[in-house]
Amino acid sequence: MGLVPTVPLPDDLRDALTDQLHATAPSRAQPQVERLIENYRGATPTAAPILRDAADAAAYAAYRMPATYAAVRSALDALRDRAGDWAPATHLDLGGGTGAATWAVAEAFADAPAEHTSTVLDWSQPALDLGRRLARHAEAAAVRAAEWTRAPLGTARLPEADLITVSYVIGELTPADRTALIDAAAAASRGALVIAEPGTPDGFARIAEARERLIAAGLTVLAPCPHDSACPVAGADWCHFAARVPRTSLHRQMKGGTLPYEDEKFCYVAAVRPAAVPAAPAPNRVVRHPQIRKGLVLLDLCTRDEALTRATVTKRHGPLYRAARDADWGDEWGEG
Ligand SMILES: C[S@@+](CC[C@H](N)C(=O)[O-])C[C@H]1O[C@@H](n2cnc3c(N)ncnc32)[C@H](O)[C@@H]1O
Repeated sequence: MGLVPTVPLPDDLRDALTDQLHATAPSRAQPQVERLIENYRGATPTAAPILRDAADAAAYAAYRMPATYAAVRSALDALRDRAGDWAPATHLDLGGGTGAATWAVAEAFADAPAEHTSTVLDWSQPALDLGRRLARHAEAAAVRAAEWTRAPLGTARLPEADLITVSYVIGELTPADRTALIDAAAAASRGALVIAEPGTPDGFARIAEARERLIAAGLTVLAPCPHDSACPVAGADWCHFAARVPRTSLHRQMKGGTLPYEDEKFCYVAAVRPAAVPAAPAPNRVVRHPQIRKGLVLLDLCTRDEALTRATVTKRHGPLYRAARDADWGDEWGEG
């Protein structure tokens, strides 16, 4: 029983990172890593790309890509859990950088009957260049054949696509560009849109704002929320989830530390255009670590009917109790 779901890197992406970065992988002490960490901690947006050169892109891919991959993969799995057989024919990755979301989409839809195409837009040429090199190692044709296009994001109209991903990007935009981008992405999405952000109060605030804009644009939220009504999370609380990312030897070599994994906390929203994806969200979602006590499990749920509530599932509930013991943070709960 694992309370934080594990999302390993696929072998081909792990090998791609090792192949492209093992000789050049920066250690934490190196200036570009420090600068990157500072930039991502500090006030964004910036007027120019944070990933300025090949060393920055390598540091980003080595330090962050496994975690952003895991976050987007988790959000896509939650989308797929509700979206039935729907699969995209075209995918657009906004601010796609080195391609984490593009790999995640290919993995999440690996069993779809037809391959999709992916297009990555970003204003950092070094990130796109590294993304393209990594993609050569991919088993999925969609990743190998992805288009990597340099483009600034913001007010510009976007090309239409069945699935649009916006992963760890909107925090780098000005508030005006952020709302413009979300509206443009909603308009351009023919099927589904997945937005992921860091699992912090600020990340959640951006996701909550994006969620409202997507609903106003006529999309239906499929995950994590069980409804399109007002979000019940208030005050100092924030809705976030976690993915456990096993550390590869490259990871350990650079990051040090003794734990064999790291937990990536993230917020997300996955929404669909109802005419294209006629689906409904789960009735409840587990929004905290389940607490397992002797003979009972406490599940903090966001529910369709009661907003936030705590369910107590005891041994007397039989199969439900066994299901509760297996439930992970972020899982759906209940039939419907
Ligand atoms: C934190 S990285 C995320 C990269 C990738 N989506 C991922 O999940 O790993 C943010 C990306 O957004 C891009 N970006 C930020 N602001 C942008 C802008 N105004 N126009 C285009 N790309 C932008 C950056 O260059 C960078 O690649």
